[in-house]
Amino acid sequence: MSVNFIRISKDPAVKISQSQSFDAGYCLQGLNILGHAQLIDLFIGSECGGQGRCGKDRIQISEPERIHYNPPTELEHRYLSDALIADGWRLACQCFPAEDGLSLTVYFTG
Ligand code: FES
Repeated sequence: MSVNFIRISKDPAVKISQSQSFDAGYCLQGLNILGHAQLIDLFIGSECGGQGRCGKDRIQISEPERIHYNPPTELEHRYLSDALIADGWRLACQCFPAEDGLSLTVYFTG
């Protein structure tokens, strides 16, 4: 069980490619999603290294999986509109899995 990253196009008309899937190999409660990407040297847009100062590490979480994370933080509300948050967009440095060993999928455009 681990966090699987899928790169999506910024153009919603383009389909997801299987070759753009990256498995972190782990799902750890104490590690944010940015940290999971860093485990496999996957760049997902962060420009501040997880300091909460860039707002560039955007990921999208599907509706059924949102219960497996902490709620959006105050910092995320600063960088993301209410509409984006309602659509499942988060900042990876602010998202923590609710428990170890989950099987999670996150989407990113970085
Ligand atoms: S990595 Fe910069 S805000 Fe999350």
